[in-house]
Amino acid sequence: CLFFSDVDFDLEDLDLDTQQSVDTTVMTGDKRNKPAPKTAALRDASIDAVAEIIKSGQAKKIIVMTGAGISTAAGIPDFRSKGTGLYDNLQKFNLPYAEAIFDIDYFMEKPEPFYALAKELFPGRYLPTKTHYFIKLLHDHNVLLHNFTQNIDTLERLTGLPGTHLVEAHGSFASATCVHCKTPGDINHVKKHILKSQIPRCTSCKDGLIKPDITFFGQSLPEKFYDSLDVSTGISFSKYSLICKAKLYNYFQLFDEADLLIVIGTSLQVQPFASLVDAVNSEVPRLLINREPAGVFQSRRGYELRGKTKKKRDAVWLGDCDGGVEKLAELLGWGKELDELHRKGHEELKAKWIKEEEALEEEPETLPSGKATAAEKETIDQLAEELEKVLHVPETKEENILKDDVKDPKTEDAKEDKKPSQS
Ligand code: OAD
Repeated sequence: CLFFSDVDFDLEDLDLDTQQSVDTTVMTGDKRNKPAPKTAALRDASIDAVAEIIKSGQAKKIIVMTGAGISTAAGIPDFRSKGTGLYDNLQKFNLPYAEAIFDIDYFMEKPEPFYALAKELFPGRYLPTKTHYFIKLLHDHNVLLHNFTQNIDTLERLTGLPGTHLVEAHGSFASATCVHCKTPGDINHVKKHILKSQIPRCTSCKDGLIKPDITFFGQSLPEKFYDSLDVSTGISFSKYSLICKAKLYNYFQLFDEADLLIVIGTSLQVQPFASLVDAVNSEVPRLLINREPAGVFQSRRGYELRGKTKKKRDAVWLGDCDGGVEKLAELLGWGKELDELHRKGHEELKAKWIKEEEALEEEPETLPSGKATAAEKETIDQLAEELEKVLHVPETKEENILKDDVKDPKTEDAKEDKKPSQS
């Protein structure tokens, strides 16, 4: 169960119409029976067919849904890939179970593992990938309706994609809040502490831990709201579902408007984000770009990737995200533009980061000292070091800057073995 910590929401505060529309559109999959008025049909299930409808102007309101797979080429591990995924590499943390690193109860008791992970993953070390820049390019060409991301790494923002076109559905490192008194933390102060292996504490209530506003498992509203929701829909939803619905509510209408859905780099295993693939109207074409098939749900929901029906609604590109978007960009005649956006974007970010690094070095040491802080620091340093070894994350910004793009080792190996396939 996940919870949007920045949402102050109570289902009963919504009027009945709103509650009903929330329940019956996305969560019950009713969109399957509601065709969009003017929807382009794909000539076949290929990425080329998708390019054709964008190129011809038939698809000009595109929703892009993304996950951790779009950031692995930047050096950030995904969650569920065997061997390289985060959840397979947390043994050193002695967690009761892998997801405990994002569990609020566990965090309150033992915050060091999360802060060690946050130290490794904190934005500022990682450059956006070709896929992130492709999404920005869709925006530059006025065909991006919205990007819904599950990622917390803020790489979408670093491309210059405006917040008006972005929903970080699982929160992000861009802001932080005291888990005790809910006072917003100063993100620069939080960042400095985290990067120095120190736990940021609230200056208002003195003792509260300040946590980046990443969606955690188990930060919950009163149980009755989830229960009432489950009863009203007849489907068992997690606590996360309710909050996600609240968070996404204002965006549901966008799915109604969409004329193409592109899903990139996600296993589509976390609900209800995954069920949003059914939130577009029932004939809207959908493209999946991923290393493996995803989003094929039971009860005729989700992607139809096996070609059982005559309706060619769903297309798939199986391979690396960056390979998929490069191919799409080429087909659209945007190949050079994408390369240029990527090159220039990296150049600007690197220059900015060097300046920030220099400014940080000049700042006087303001972090608290003391026995407890020293012990915390030691634990966080140890854990972060272990994590760094298994995840192959770049050690410093400079390393990333010097090495240019950090490549996902799995991606590189896969490239050697076989070229991405298309079906
Ligand atoms: P997952 O790790 O579940 O899925 C990543 C998907 O991307 C997998 O299907 C991989 O095969 C694929 N993939 C990885 N690298 C790729 C590449 N370079 N090219 C193409 N495909 C690639 O990650 P998510 O689906 O994003 O929640 O996970 C959803 C949520 O689960 C996350 O937001 C996270 C986690 O619990 C929170 O952090 C709160």
